[in-house]
Amino acid sequence: MIEIASQVSLQGYNTLALPACAEYFCSVTSEQQIAQALDYARSHNLQVTALGGGSNLLLAGDIAGLVIYLDLRGINCVDSCKDSVTIEFAAGENWHKAIEYCLQQGWYGLENLSLIPGNMGAAPIQNIGAYGVELCDLFVSLRAINIATGEVLIMDRQACEFGYRDSIFKHKYSNCYLITQVSLELWAQPQVNLQYPALAEALAAESEPTPEMVSAAVCAIRSAKLPDPAQIPNAGSFFKNPMVDAEQLKSLLADNPKMPFYSADNGWSKVPAAWLIDQSGFRGLRSGNVGVHRDQALVLVNFGGTGAELLALANRIQSEVLERFAIALEIEPRIYGQS
Ligand code: EPU
Repeated sequence: MIEIASQVSLQGYNTLALPACAEYFCSVTSEQQIAQALDYARSHNLQVTALGGGSNLLLAGDIAGLVIYLDLRGINCVDSCKDSVTIEFAAGENWHKAIEYCLQQGWYGLENLSLIPGNMGAAPIQNIGAYGVELCDLFVSLRAINIATGEVLIMDRQACEFGYRDSIFKHKYSNCYLITQVSLELWAQPQVNLQYPALAEALAAESEPTPEMVSAAVCAIRSAKLPDPAQIPNAGSFFKNPMVDAEQLKSLLADNPKMPFYSADNGWSKVPAAWLIDQSGFRGLRSGNVGVHRDQALVLVNFGGTGAELLALANRIQSEVLERFAIALEIEPRIYGQS
């Protein structure tokens, strides 16, 4: 049986360590317990909010209704051939620990995504990506439970409508489903992806780089650039990297010849939000009990402030970048709760 508690602090459940309470809270370890939690919510007319690792979450205030913490565990190989394996991961598995486990089993492909905070169930929502790999590259399907009806849905890659830091779960299906399981196709033979220049550079001295070396190199790069949420509470990249068209890129480069950019499809380019924020003078800025990380302008950090303070700083950054560069930055973490 599940236990439903009331007025539960969520400060330990979000990597920004923002203070906020769940009106009602329960932790579930199986789909059967999810069904019980949804029955409870329905019979008490409570809105439902899913909670995973809390690493891409901004709690603007308390959350009304029932917060369901998804703690389902298990990693199973359900199909294998000479070159590949299909692995089912339960939603509550920690992302990085799952990668370490896969490496031990000889299942490869996730190394470039090492050390991303959070749990497996949230990975498809923002289609996590780093160092040349996105989740959708390895994705087979997921299992999700409809919050309103309790029905189970299996969704393949196409159905998830993945994009850059994006999926159907941020739009049409926002807050409609609880993701309980993710299936990925991994390689059964060691292979490495060194497309990302900084990674290729880090392993340039290795004649035969292994997946283990890739994982170690990604961990080293991330640790050098990004603050550890356990030490300085943060939610990773706070803004998406904006896309600009060829015309806007040309005019931006005319004024800022040193501006970095990455060419994307159809004449569009991605401009690093970190650079725009840095140039706007925010890197290392502290505003009350929140701030911008001193080594990485893309990361907002919490020194003991509130979600409202953090949102106010984010809005200040957005206004300044808009004024200087005519670019509207989009906040990446999901915002829950009312201030
Ligand atoms: N830069 C600055 N100032 C800074 C930081 C960076 O000018 O304070 C410049 C750098 O010199 C560089 C550019 O901005 O030219 C890009 O910086 P960086 O490589 O640090 O960030 P990014 O490539 O934009 C993205 C993801 C990261 C991911 C890395 C590696 C987004 C929003 N962020 O960062 O994702 O780890 O690529 O693939 O797409 C996350 O989602 O939490 C995250 C860390």
